[in-house]
Amino acid sequence: MMPPLIYSSDQNKYFAEELASFIGTTSCDVRQMTQHCHLYLSDSGLSFFHPEARSTKKFKIDFNSGTTRWRINRADHEKLIKKALGKHEAPLNILDCTAGMLQDTLLFLSLGHKVTAVEQSKILFCLLNDAINRSNDQEIFKALTLINANALSYKAKAEKFDVIYFDPMYPVSKKNALNSGQLDYITKILATESIDNDPIKDFEVLSSMPIKKMVIKRPIKAEPFSKKINYQVLGKTTRFDVYI
Ligand SMILES: C[S@@+](CC[C@H](N)C(=O)[O-])C[C@H]1O[C@@H](n2cnc3c(N)ncnc32)[C@H](O)[C@@H]1O
Repeated sequence: MMPPLIYSSDQNKYFAEELASFIGTTSCDVRQMTQHCHLYLSDSGLSFFHPEARSTKKFKIDFNSGTTRWRINRADHEKLIKKALGKHEAPLNILDCTAGMLQDTLLFLSLGHKVTAVEQSKILFCLLNDAINRSNDQEIFKALTLINANALSYKAKAEKFDVIYFDPMYPVSKKNALNSGQLDYITKILATESIDNDPIKDFEVLSSMPIKKMVIKRPIKAEPFSKKINYQVLGKTTRFDVYI
């Protein structure tokens, strides 16, 4: 069942009702605040709370502070991503099938590419839209189209993209579970929405699309999804498997 959306004041009531209707839940005012799982809309934006999350803070995406870390991760990651995308004369049209926190999409955008990013979770999609609206840098998002859907539904449109990017959830290991409170929250959001992916099956559908190039982000030691891999770009903990 979807968690309720609680709004902080009457000023947020109308927007809270709109969001709640999109997500498929109910909205209520702050007098009905609960310690159970909920979404919270206040003047400072939209957040998600889960009582069993490792972090006691509500989860909110913020592109203005360091919390999304994309700028910090940028230098190392940028080299690898550039290599994985390969040589190209004009900016690329990229389909990011796994928007998540938009960290990789932001790298693509900062390299001058055009991105359609697809996120299946309605809650995460609303948190992302809220963070984009609050971002001090609106310029970077001009080349982004953010969509709430399962990326597999893009089968018919795959041909118009130069690159398809796929970064499925890593299998939960003790190490990565402890490292990232954000990943923990994404896992909680997907469980709340009863979304359960099978990355291998998703890969099979995506690779059957009429694609020019597919880049898959994997943990460094994970098995590739297919032996038909063309090349790999290796980082310290992550690698990119490239299929052409
Ligand atoms: C590991 S996270 C991606 C992180 C992202 N690359 C980033 O840089 O922030 C995986 C995300 O992809 C989404 N996802 C997984 N499979 C999907 C699919 N088939 N269609 C749409 N979204 C999907 C999940 O809901 C989750 O938010």
